[in-house]
Amino acid sequence: MKPDRQPATTLNDFKLDILFRPVTKRLHENHMSRLGIANTMRLAYFYNRLKYRRQDDRRRVLYKTQLSSLLEENGGLTRPPLEIKDGWALDTSMSLPHLDRVLEDSEEIIEERSGERCSATGAYRSYFQDVWTPADLVKYPSFLDFATSSDLLSVVSHYLQSIPALSTTLPWGVRFVESNAAFDDQPNKPKDSQLYHIDYYSLPNVYVLVLLRDTTTENGPWTFLPRGVSQKARVALNYWTRRRGYRVSDEDMYSVVDRKEVIEFCYPRGTVLFIESSGCFHYGSRNSVKPRFQLMLSYGGTCRTDFSEALVPHKIYPIRDTDSRLRKMVLNKNILG
Ligand SMILES: [Fe+2]
Repeated sequence: MKPDRQPATTLNDFKLDILFRPVTKRLHENHMSRLGIANTMRLAYFYNRLKYRRQDDRRRVLYKTQLSSLLEENGGLTRPPLEIKDGWALDTSMSLPHLDRVLEDSEEIIEERSGERCSATGAYRSYFQDVWTPADLVKYPSFLDFATSSDLLSVVSHYLQSIPALSTTLPWGVRFVESNAAFDDQPNKPKDSQLYHIDYYSLPNVYVLVLLRDTTTENGPWTFLPRGVSQKARVALNYWTRRRGYRVSDEDMYSVVDRKEVIEFCYPRGTVLFIESSGCFHYGSRNSVKPRFQLMLSYGGTCRTDFSEALVPHKIYPIRDTDSRLRKMVLNKNILG
């Protein structure tokens, strides 16, 4: 497996990316502040449609006409799919396929890597690090088995109305994150993703979050507002316009939203949250006085609303000949069944 490589797009796509890189880079930097997030997302979607229109159209048709058979070929459903309502859905059954294997492997990874800054992996925020490495995709197959299981993919597909793709750029499709106040020089001062925001990567962008240890308020839980409340707040705050930055202070948020609407992802180990991070205001990892361990899977449609695929190297997920059509499509968006 080659973990970091440009994707299998056409030569023309590659030339397009090179030609427009100075522009896309400027539009993307500083959280799309130059034109405002909403304007930049529209431009990015148009740009990505030029490159991925064929994949996008095909995947929407496959969703409408073949989803049942694709799910069946991929191992089938073990239960009726959950429905994402108001931007989120919770699975507390602790019995999703391969979850037990994920939790077991997670203990090994936590034991091996937690508690210290892993400079070689994802120490890009002072309070949060991604300890996942590309080699783990092969060493711990449970994670991709879980991420591509029919039970998960049916929920995500219905929400996207398309065959989803696991993100190969930002944020990475598979992250194993440790949040820890001990890494933070100012643990009581929320910053960056510890402040409210709505993700702009893709519309919609769905996260599947798995608690790898029991999580309480002391762990700095993932915290969000339901979609309806979030969208009202977005309008009231002029969010995603040029007038408003990407991060929103609590003071501003609670001037337009009742604090009672806030939901904290505080549950036992093995609980799974499906959430549209592009629709719900959220933050996390605030003052994790006890370390928080969470798996974060990121799915989107084919045509993203940012320029990250034109700017950063893509992750390559391992694909075997024996994998189902659905699994192959989720792991590589250029595969069309
Ligand atoms: Fe986010």
